[in-house]
Amino acid sequence: MELPPPAYLFISFIILIFSSQRTLTQDPACRNTCNSLQIKYPFGTGPGCGSPLFHPYITCTSSGGGGGDQLILKTHTGSYPITSISYTTSTLTINPPYMSTCTSMQNSPNLGLDWASPFQIGPSTFILLDCQPPTSSMTTTKNTPLCDPSYSFLCASIYTCPDVVSLGLPLFPPTNTCCVYSPANLNEKGELDLRALKCGAYTSAASLGEYPIDPVKWVYGVVLKYTYGTLDNNVVDSKCKGCEISGGVCGYNPSGNSFICVCGNGLNSSLDCFNYGLNQVYGWSTNSSVHLLTRNI
Ligand SMILES: *[C@@H]1O[C@H](CO)[C@@H](O)[C@H](O)[C@H]1NC(C)=O
Ligand SMILES: *[C@@H]1O[C@H](CO)[C@@H](O)[C@H](O)[C@H]1NC(C)=O
Repeated sequence: MELPPPAYLFISFIILIFSSQRTLTQDPACRNTCNSLQIKYPFGTGPGCGSPLFHPYITCTSSGGGGGDQLILKTHTGSYPITSISYTTSTLTINPPYMSTCTSMQNSPNLGLDWASPFQIGPSTFILLDCQPPTSSMTTTKNTPLCDPSYSFLCASIYTCPDVVSLGLPLFPPTNTCCVYSPANLNEKGELDLRALKCGAYTSAASLGEYPIDPVKWVYGVVLKYTYGTLDNNVVDSKCKGCEISGGVCGYNPSGNSFICVCGNGLNSSLDCFNYGLNQVYGWSTNSSVHLLTRNI
């Protein structure tokens, strides 16, 4: 049956309305998961989500096809997939793409964090590899030895990895070209500067597990700490708990940096998803000097 043109238009109009409503419910502005990670304040999946102090550095990207979303930390040295977040200890673990592991030895570019960001190096065990021998002569800027000799058995362990050959390492005994640098410090540019340290690669163990001499069982990754605690943020913190309990995701209004609770039905609330229309506004302290103080490592 042929439809007259006006009916045609009307039907496509109806279809348009329904499909746009469907994308609204399928794709909420802020999500509480990214792949398998639970996303809670201060993390967010995009602009307007989580804390505005975190947003420039954290995004949930879809790698296109296969639904492979990934939470990414962006810094001036690269993009780093986040593999875990602990909201109780305020730490996250990143997996730098060119970091060596027991099954993949490779030369690595510098690892860097942005000084103005809320992230700093946390408690992971850094092992510098492929360094100019002897590593015992490497020193910090304060002229103290850089490598911790009491952990040199970790160097011996990582040199048992079969893939170590690909770095051309067996020429020297482990302790000559390897250095356990833990806790690691970043230089004034916020970088673990491998070129300046004259090393070709590094690995980092977030956990050595129960068997420190078995590098196959180490949990590889770089642990970072995050901070966001200021007086203003405590207020936002308690509002945010109420928002999350009501099924919302904490976010902020791009124009005013004020708190909003993003609810699943396409509505935003200034309080929580049980109470719309209450107009209380809390701001963030964007005073970055607070961060600079806490990141003096
Ligand atoms: C709700 O908040 C999110 C995140 O800030 C924003 O992207 C979205 O446009 C807001 N929606 C409405 C209807 O204001
Ligand atoms: C930001 O921090 C500086 C230094 O601590 C302080 O002097 C200033 O008053 C602060 N500004 C605000 C808006 O809190």
